[in-house]
Amino acid sequence: MANITLTIDGDSVAVSTGTTILKAAQQLGRHIPTICYHDHCTANGLCRICVVEVNGVKPLVPACLTPVREGIKVSTSSVRAERSRRTILEMLASAVDLSQAPEIERLMGEYHADHRRFPEAERREYPVLDDNPMYIRDYSKCILCWRCVQVCADDAQFTYAINFKGRGFETSIGTFFDKPMPETSCVFCGQCVGVCPTGALKPKRESLLEQGLSLDEIMQATKSEKKKRRKSP
Ligand code: SF4
Ligand code: FES
Repeated sequence: MANITLTIDGDSVAVSTGTTILKAAQQLGRHIPTICYHDHCTANGLCRICVVEVNGVKPLVPACLTPVREGIKVSTSSVRAERSRRTILEMLASAVDLSQAPEIERLMGEYHADHRRFPEAERREYPVLDDNPMYIRDYSKCILCWRCVQVCADDAQFTYAINFKGRGFETSIGTFFDKPMPETSCVFCGQCVGVCPTGALKPKRESLLEQGLSLDEIMQATKSEKKKRRKSP
């Protein structure tokens, strides 16, 4: 039941208790950008690209996580919110390879973000992990959105094969004791690959195709790898 009325960019909307500002805005046809948010994952408010201004609230608030309140006035594209989004995008571009993240690249253009704003920034670079026949992990492209961890855990699969590891700049996604994927509880459901927004997780066959292998060669390569792993103790 719609029992809360608020104003978004000057337009009034009525929604039910517990609705987030993001969903209320969508009801009005307003677009608020998101990166870490996914409709089928628990929102954690990690990337902060969805920040908006709410009257009477000093900090910008993440729209994907913040429930509506009666009578609030929300501004989705104030100068302050847009500047904050632009800076977030520039910081991401300074540290992470976004070359296979088309949605983020599109936002970079929309917000006139400068890829080179922080030239001194240290880049997050990791070797590509290719330890199973199903998918590769290229964490140089990882923005730590946490979607893969969530679908592997309570949001979908309840497998808990991956999680955050490290702290601060060293934070990354990994397995327990850095074990190769086949030695973890991973069941290769592919849900993590499906929700990854940046190409950090990619089907092995797609990766081999990009490397120029023919379909026959790809089938051979992935089949023989599966056989080899089945035989290994
Ligand atoms: S691997 Fe992909 S889904 Fe997982 S945290 Fe990194 S960017 Fe997000
Ligand atoms: S989309 Fe809201 S914090 Fe990332």
